Amino acid sequence: MSEIKKETKRITFKIKRFNPVVDIEPYWDTFELDCHEGTTVLIAVQEIIAKHDGSIAMRYNCRGGICGSCAMLVNNKYMLACETLVLKLNKKEIKLEPLPFFPVIKDLVVDMSQFYEKLLAIEPYLKRDHSKDPETEILQNPTDFLIIEEATKCILCGACHSSCVSVWTDKNYLGPGALLKAFRFANDTRDEDHKARIKRVTAEDGVFRCHTAFNCVEACPKELNPTEAIQTLKRQSAKQVLKFW
Ligand code: F3S
Ligand code: FES
Repeated sequence: MSEIKKETKRITFKIKRFNPVVDIEPYWDTFELDCHEGTTVLIAVQEIIAKHDGSIAMRYNCRGGICGSCAMLVNNKYMLACETLVLKLNKKEIKLEPLPFFPVIKDLVVDMSQFYEKLLAIEPYLKRDHSKDPETEILQNPTDFLIIEEATKCILCGACHSSCVSVWTDKNYLGPGALLKAFRFANDTRDEDHKARIKRVTAEDGVFRCHTAFNCVEACPKELNPTEAIQTLKRQSAKQVLKFW
């Protein structure tokens, strides 16, 4: 029986290290690792931790591109470590860095509290008068679902927030992640708070702080389009204001 040969390549990984408790500034650590077709960046870091340096910190959970916790910069691009195949990158050297802008807790782990605060500010859950809910599930017309389908695929990895120039320069701006979620609920036909949601995103810290930089679109590892969602919210907000006048 012929043996199936696995392609294996020796790859150099450069990992940005920083422990704010003991380090004055970040530095790079270099590791060599044999990677094969199935090695993801996440598996590579796990192997580096197991074989070379157990002190490296990284965050992950689902390993299947769903929880959003392994987002990082891989060779300067926003990616999910668990979905990125090392050999597909076609590079002998791979640089791993934590998500920019967020404060580093340790190495590849960042503090995303401010992203979650912004998210909570838009009330990311269905709002309706539950006393009138039917006994059975509340069905949604497939055509209505199409409007929000893309937005429901957001896994809250924070890449868009980390990449947005308006977030960097205005600490109050809600940012693309929270606004994509706001779009998702403001346009969900089962939600009964459309007007208040649009009013919320029209506020000082909302959609009009977006300067259509498109960084968020480029950064999203799920290829979603927060910019388009924000533009729709801007139009809905203008319509609401005009109606009021
Ligand atoms: Fe920021 Fe995206 Fe707007 S990067 S400025 S939210 S288009
Ligand atoms: Fe969950 Fe990568 S570990 S998205």
